[in-house]
Amino acid sequence: MSVRLVGTDAADVEEAARRLAAGELVAFATETVYGLGARADDDTAVAKIFAAKGRPRGHPLIVHVADVHAAEAFAATIPAVAGRLMQAFWPGPLTVIVPREPQMAAAAAGGRPTIGLRCPAHAAAHDLLVAAQRLGVPGVAAPSANSFGRVSPTTAEHVVAEFGPDLVVLDGGPCRVGIESAIVDASGTHPMLLRPGILTRARLEEAAGEPLPDADASAAAAPGTLPAHYAPRARVRLMQSSMLHTALQMLGQDTLKLAVYSRTVPSGVATGVRHRRMPSRPEQAAHELFSVLRELDDEGVQLIWVEDPPPGPEWDGVRDRLTRAAAA
Ligand code: TXA
Ligand code: MG
Repeated sequence: MSVRLVGTDAADVEEAARRLAAGELVAFATETVYGLGARADDDTAVAKIFAAKGRPRGHPLIVHVADVHAAEAFAATIPAVAGRLMQAFWPGPLTVIVPREPQMAAAAAGGRPTIGLRCPAHAAAHDLLVAAQRLGVPGVAAPSANSFGRVSPTTAEHVVAEFGPDLVVLDGGPCRVGIESAIVDASGTHPMLLRPGILTRARLEEAAGEPLPDADASAAAAPGTLPAHYAPRARVRLMQSSMLHTALQMLGQDTLKLAVYSRTVPSGVATGVRHRRMPSRPEQAAHELFSVLRELDDEGVQLIWVEDPPPGPEWDGVRDRLTRAAAA
């Protein structure tokens, strides 16, 4: 029996909030992916997240807050560019990294002098944060609710598959966005885009009022910024459409463990090759991406050939996750 609380039920939200206040872990829906949460102001509670995920301690977690006001408690300062981004996109799928208030959330921040803050838009997450706040919880540290390095969960069922039936999950249905938040580091002299999400760089830059270059490779020493991440058990190979078609023509009969995920319907697919059609809109592709990878894993697929997403910047988030999955 899995402990599944329904995110639209006020008593269930209250129960989840009580558990957080007591220092226990609660998984919950957000609009991006499900999070594995603990009260951010309690280093002992936060340690349970690292243990459950098998995540190295130095890898910082995102702190989820009910609103900008709640974010201020964790920040030493909110730089102007961070404030503009929060104003424009909160609540929503954007994490902003700012200088950390030294007394706050040291474990969640992996000991860093900065802290990643996000105000989620999903009603279940928002209601949970507000209910927990009433019980004295200033914010909830939550990485994606998956074992370290694996595909992020986008349904409550995925979370149960990751952690078993004993973990409490606040079920808010399938996540609307489906890939993790965009992360902008606004803690230094120049803001940088650390992780692309569904919000395009152009929209982020417009609100920021300045360019948001990618973080240089030397700065990338945290999970989600590692080359190999978000990996299903199956091996993922990304290829151009023409190469995909050629490879499929050359396949023999030994194709039972192969799946193809492509926007175009490949010709000459041998019987036995699973084909999943990638949506032609990036929002739709992001929404289903992790679910599809998990489904193919569950079907015992060992190799997934994925057609390169189109080159446009609106595909950056999906391309980033696929490139990392293929690097694993
Ligand atoms: O959409 C999301 O962001 C989801 C949901 C649950 O909100 N959360 C999520 O968390 O994706 P996680 O732990 O899987 O990814 C957090 C990312 C990591 O790449 C981490 O390195 C980066 O955020 N991060 C967090 N705090 C940071 C900091 N202070 N400095 C640099 N990177 C930070
Ligand atoms: Mg993650």
